[in-house]
Amino acid sequence: MSEFLEAMAFRHACKAFDAEKQIPSEQFESMLDVVQKSPSSFGMEPWRVIVVRNPNLRKALKSACWNQNQITDCSELVIFTTDNDTVRSGTPYVRKMFERRGLPSEAVDTYMGVYKNYLEPIEADEVLLENWTAKQCYIAMANMMTYAATLKIDSCPIEGFDKEEVEAILDLEYGHSVAVICAFGYRAKAQSEQKRLELKQIVEYR
Ligand SMILES: Cc1cc2nc3c(=O)[nH]c(=O)nc-3n(C[C@H](O)[C@H](O)[C@H](O)COP(=O)(O)O)c2cc1C
Repeated sequence: MSEFLEAMAFRHACKAFDAEKQIPSEQFESMLDVVQKSPSSFGMEPWRVIVVRNPNLRKALKSACWNQNQITDCSELVIFTTDNDTVRSGTPYVRKMFERRGLPSEAVDTYMGVYKNYLEPIEADEVLLENWTAKQCYIAMANMMTYAATLKIDSCPIEGFDKEEVEAILDLEYGHSVAVICAFGYRAKAQSEQKRLELKQIVEYR
């Protein structure tokens, strides 16, 4: 089996982490590199990752995350937040992201126009904008979890939280929001069998 498929088989949503076992820092840093290298729509990299290590902060977050033990027991708690205001069309940030491709200024203007056309209906609604930037985070999180699995590091993606409460606890800057949370560490016990629909139930050829 390829290393990738082995990682896919290894990865489970870990419900019980061994609270004593820490991820070596070089390995965790390489997991963050995977986030950095992940693709994003128009290359806007809207993610702003918060790694929560402070035990008191973790405790406060746990109560806003359905009291899930993974929040306090995992080795590294990664919160994917997004900077939504900065990716609005026409901002200096967006221009810079296109300019860094080394394009002539007319080409940058063209990109700015295409981006504006695409984003205008999305950015008109704060929720749609937050969902758009959050989508990018899910890609980065998936990459991070699969890569972690190649290192035999467990993970649990977490959507079970009160968004407003988590945002208040983290005291996020205006225009920033929480997309998704992921806990990383080591399983405290064997994982249960992966349950999946059959391929023929989820794939059709036309
Ligand atoms: C976006 C997302 C959010 C999730 N949120 C939670 C969560 O809040 N708590 C939890 O224990 N598991 C959560 N899960 C894990 C799923 O329940 C789990 O992936 C699914 O049941 C399949 O099991 P497996 O990942 O172990 O194969 C989440 C998974 C995803 C992809």
